[in-house]
Amino acid sequence: MATTRLTLAPILLIAAVLLSTETTAQPTAPAPGPAGPINLTQILEKGGQFTKFMHLLNITQVGAQVNIQLNSSSEGMTVFAPTDNAFQNLKPGTLNKLTADEQVKLILYHVSPKYYSLDDLLSVSNPVRTQASGRDNGVYGLNFTGEANQVNVSTGYVETRVSNALRQQRPLAVYVVDMVLLPGEMFGENKLSPIAPAPKSPSSGVSDDSNSTKKAPASPSDKSGSGERKAGLGFGIGLVVLCLKFLF
Ligand SMILES: *[C@@H]1O[C@H](CO)[C@@H](O)[C@H](O)[C@H]1NC(C)=O
Ligand SMILES: *[C@@H]1O[C@H](CO)[C@@H](O)[C@H](O)[C@H]1NC(C)=O
Ligand SMILES: *[C@@H]1O[C@H](CO)[C@@H](O)[C@H](O)[C@H]1NC(C)=O
Ligand SMILES: *[C@@H]1O[C@H](CO)[C@@H](O)[C@H](O)[C@H]1NC(C)=O
Ligand SMILES: *[C@@H]1O[C@H](CO)[C@@H](O)[C@H](O)[C@H]1NC(C)=O
Ligand SMILES: *[C@@H]1O[C@H](CO)[C@@H](O)[C@H](O)[C@H]1NC(C)=O
Repeated sequence: MATTRLTLAPILLIAAVLLSTETTAQPTAPAPGPAGPINLTQILEKGGQFTKFMHLLNITQVGAQVNIQLNSSSEGMTVFAPTDNAFQNLKPGTLNKLTADEQVKLILYHVSPKYYSLDDLLSVSNPVRTQASGRDNGVYGLNFTGEANQVNVSTGYVETRVSNALRQQRPLAVYVVDMVLLPGEMFGENKLSPIAPAPKSPSSGVSDDSNSTKKAPASPSDKSGSGERKAGLGFGIGLVVLCLKFLF
């Protein structure tokens, strides 16, 4: 009996390994302590009126990208955060008409890969690059105009005030905007690509230098991922149970 247990032990081990690889296939993001790096979500949470923007930052994974880039870039970053009201004021269906790639682009458009204080924005040279500009300097820029300490931002399609700062300290500035910054490239008269229907082939449109955001699940479809993981887990457990049956 003791010898059977011994010979079955490797099978148990294999089952355990299978189980652990299944569960770690999709590693969850590490959660550094509160004293760690700047956390955009936390800043927006404190603001209290950015639920929709936070949700979009999350599902497009742009939020995670900002957190990482903040840590690695010396230029800092600037984020323009539309309020929940701003999203409510969009024409119905505006966001739903966008493809997943376009939604990512829209959110990237609200992030500039450089730190700007409000004073900087008063005198910045236009257009200002955004994360949506990618390597292509000429597109998806924002124009800033200032007068008497009031800064406006224009997308070529909409113009709104840059209101108060949720944070204005290197390396990150976060400003509130009362409108969603709809890029002229997507919504204006000279839009680069038609918004609908969605192209079937991946990335026929403007190129995106961040490969990871392309794969971003911009829909609830990512639920299938965890479903697979659960199935894998079930399989692993089943195997262990089977081995235990052999044992006893
Ligand atoms: C950022 O803050 C949010 C809310 O407090 C938290 O859920 C999340 O885990 C934090 N992310 C990181 C990378 O610290
Ligand atoms: C972010 O999205 C993931 C799935 O992509 C979800 O599990 C998580 O709850 C979301 N977090 C927030 C704060 O919305
Ligand atoms: C930030 O960058 C440093 C080195 O550049 C690295 O050691 C650290 O793990 C990074 N932290 C995060 C949260 O990415
Ligand atoms: C910014 O201003 C320049 C010069 O006035 C103009 O050519 C360009 O179309 C504007 N772009 C946006 C996004 O408003
Ligand atoms: C800024 O935009 C607002 C509309 O949001 C407009 O009323 C105001 O005149 C603009 N200010 C400047 C300096 O362009
Ligand atoms: C993007 O990722 C794919 C595989 O996921 C790879 O084949 C391709 O070379 C990557 N492109 C860039 C620009 O990194």
